[in-house]
Amino acid sequence: MIVITGATGALNGATVDRLLERMPASGIAVVARDVEKARRFAELGITVRHGDYADPASLPRAFDGAEQLLLVSASDPKADAVALHRDAVDAAVAAGVGRILYTSHQGASPDTPFGPARDHAATERMLAESGVPWTSLRNGFYAHSLAWLAGPWRETGTIAVPMDGRVSWTARADAAEAAAVILAANRAATGGASAAGPYDGPVTLTAPDAPTFADTAAIASELAGRPVALEVLGSEEWVAAQLATGQPEFMARFTLGIYEAAAGGYFAGTDPLLGALLGRAPLSARDALAAPTPAPAR
Ligand SMILES: NC(=O)c1ccc[n+]([C@@H]2O[C@H](COP(=O)([O-])OP(=O)(O)OC[C@H]3O[C@@H](n4cnc5c(N)ncnc54)[C@H](OP(=O)(O)O)[C@@H]3O)[C@@H](O)[C@H]2O)c1
Repeated sequence: MIVITGATGALNGATVDRLLERMPASGIAVVARDVEKARRFAELGITVRHGDYADPASLPRAFDGAEQLLLVSASDPKADAVALHRDAVDAAVAAGVGRILYTSHQGASPDTPFGPARDHAATERMLAESGVPWTSLRNGFYAHSLAWLAGPWRETGTIAVPMDGRVSWTARADAAEAAAVILAANRAATGGASAAGPYDGPVTLTAPDAPTFADTAAIASELAGRPVALEVLGSEEWVAAQLATGQPEFMARFTLGIYEAAAGGYFAGTDPLLGALLGRAPLSARDALAAPTPAPAR
């Protein structure tokens, strides 16, 4: 049985959809905080179980019988994600799960300025110490976030950033499909009992290019058919500009951490593994910028 948390969300929901193309629904269970939200999976013949990291008593039944368990990283930036992940990993160990897979982030590191990636690093440490085989899916930064971070450049002709840096913008749909490929490959390799597997420890799943924001402005210029300039404002001027648009300071500083991590090179690496798993070129930053409607801020 492959047990998947976070399937009511975008990433792991898409992973379940891609997994269904590779194995029968009877071999999959999804774990949802609100089982009603998971109704579409039940209708596909997938087992739906209740489970919430914040309610550890719900987890033993939720994770029961998992040869592979895909743990979503907690999504609330104000929650104590590491504590939630600790409870989830402890429950997985107690349930005798064969392998834990975890949705991490490229640049997971204890010293990154991007807060969630420090939580991912702490979670990877607890996975390494758990004694259970584990895979950390270090996904590149969601490419659709670029449309949000770049702002209304089509109208303004500018992209304003606090500082420049490289980011390997990666389509969430591609990361989701790669997770399904890995889950299915583990299952095929082991006949279901997936303690062994070729994807062990951290694996980095990124698009093949990591453009700077200056590169991004050049791509935007080509797409717009007129110049789009990059404005590098510096941290405090950029934060002030965010506050002036009504953005809460917490969010502005959180987002500043993204740019600081980019400038520090945390998102600059690229890895051919994603393309190899997909058997095609992953979507690119250009594809994300060319998307007709800027996506919301996640
Ligand atoms: N790589 C990136 O650039 C990037 C960007 C943003 C986020 N992320 C991370 O990637 C994860 C998946 O992304 P996504 O786009 O699928 O996010 P999403 O659409 O917000 O989905 C998050 C999922 O996590 C579940 N969840 C949250 N807290 C939980 C808890 N305490 N116990 C059990 N389940 C919980 C949610 O359940 P409900 O449906 O009940 O809310 C939902 O199914 C996020 O959670 C976040 O950690 C990565």
